[in-house]
Amino acid sequence: MVDRQKALLMVLLALLIYPNDIFGGAFQPEFSGPITNLTVPLGRDATFTCLVKHLGGYRVGWVKADTKAIQAIHDHVITHNQRVTVSHSDHTMWNLHIKGVQREDGGLYMCQINTDPMKSQTGMLTIVEPPDIIPEGTSSDMNVGEGGQVKLTCRARGVPAPRVSWRREDGRNIIIREQSAVSGQNQKSHVSTTVTEYFGEDLKITKISRNEMGVYLCIASNGIPPAVSKRIFINVHFSPVIHVPNQLVGAPLGTDVVLECFVEASPKSINYWVNDKGAMIISSVRHDVQAVAKSQFEVRMILTIRNLQKHDVGTYRCAAKNSLGDVESSIRLYDIAAPAKTQTAVQLSFDDEEDESVYGSAEMDKMENRPLAVDNTVHGHVGSASVATPSSAIRSGKKRPVINAKSGTDPCPRRFSVVLSSLVSLMVVCRRW
Ligand SMILES: *[C@@H]1O[C@H](CO)[C@@H](O)[C@H](O)[C@H]1NC(C)=O
Repeated sequence: MVDRQKALLMVLLALLIYPNDIFGGAFQPEFSGPITNLTVPLGRDATFTCLVKHLGGYRVGWVKADTKAIQAIHDHVITHNQRVTVSHSDHTMWNLHIKGVQREDGGLYMCQINTDPMKSQTGMLTIVEPPDIIPEGTSSDMNVGEGGQVKLTCRARGVPAPRVSWRREDGRNIIIREQSAVSGQNQKSHVSTTVTEYFGEDLKITKISRNEMGVYLCIASNGIPPAVSKRIFINVHFSPVIHVPNQLVGAPLGTDVVLECFVEASPKSINYWVNDKGAMIISSVRHDVQAVAKSQFEVRMILTIRNLQKHDVGTYRCAAKNSLGDVESSIRLYDIAAPAKTQTAVQLSFDDEEDESVYGSAEMDKMENRPLAVDNTVHGHVGSASVATPSSAIRSGKKRPVINAKSGTDPCPRRFSVVLSSLVSLMVVCRRW
């Protein structure tokens, strides 16, 4: 009895001291954990680890499951693939390294132990690719006439397949106008949807307006950074239009007068000022000609006439011309008597930041208390509609007293738009009216 217990103890001790090698048959090798699946971007390195215990005299091999190609046995690389190496530590951690993974490296890998029957487990190598926009299938910059339509396309590749969407670079909305048949009737209705981002490879913009001109971004993403985008410029063409806020401008002699016209055109127009005699006005000691771009297609034309003289009085025309057409609009400049302290004048326009000295009479103020119809809308103003309704907007500023006759609904009758030679006559006319 004692001998048998002693013998058992010896065996247990021996098992503890000398593990597998001697008692190889006593413990069969086994896996101590699954292989972790790998998702690796194309070109990066991948390492599978096979965890084994009680390997004993057995060997660990790596096989690519789909092709049955042996990658390595124990510490020898078998495959001719130069990018494959193996390493191990402690006979328990067996690694298969693949350097700079290629598309064909993807698939199931098997870690085997040459027991009988063979033991194996597998791990999946998934190769992912960041998105890429395919130039051949993707639109370039486009030109379209206003009111026309454009179809932008964008093709992208990547693994997994990328999602394509559209945005405007300036963050403005994309308008999708769809024609849908009203059910039950033979009618068509137009439904327009406004979105900041449109999903899909094809973006169709119908009845395009000048406000939809600009850069559109095609964005492709599939969760694998970096996402990519392509800029596509839609150029909307239209012939020039001119909008004149003040078509009648009066100023005292000796002061500086500013005339302005707003031009919309695409492609950009050539803009210039012409005087009574049909001569083009260029910057000089007396004149300052400026053009300030307000947007891609809007320009503010500014003509400053310094030290107004009697011979400066007359009609000035601002003109704009591009490949699609030309247009001009006129501004009438007249001189007014310099406001004197005793004179009764009208003040109605407080929209100037300048600290203005104001002269006003009660009844004129009353008349002018109506809001001025200053048309600030940016679009759709055809400059040729130049019949101005003078509103006797009189500003007597410290520096540049100017009478601004603004178009719009106004108590002063239309017929006086012809010539308002002086402040006095204007007031008389309005009073009588
Ligand atoms: C690895 O991926 C395969 C399928 O691709 C799946 O069956 C298996 O459970 C995954 N293994 C692990 C450890 O997540």
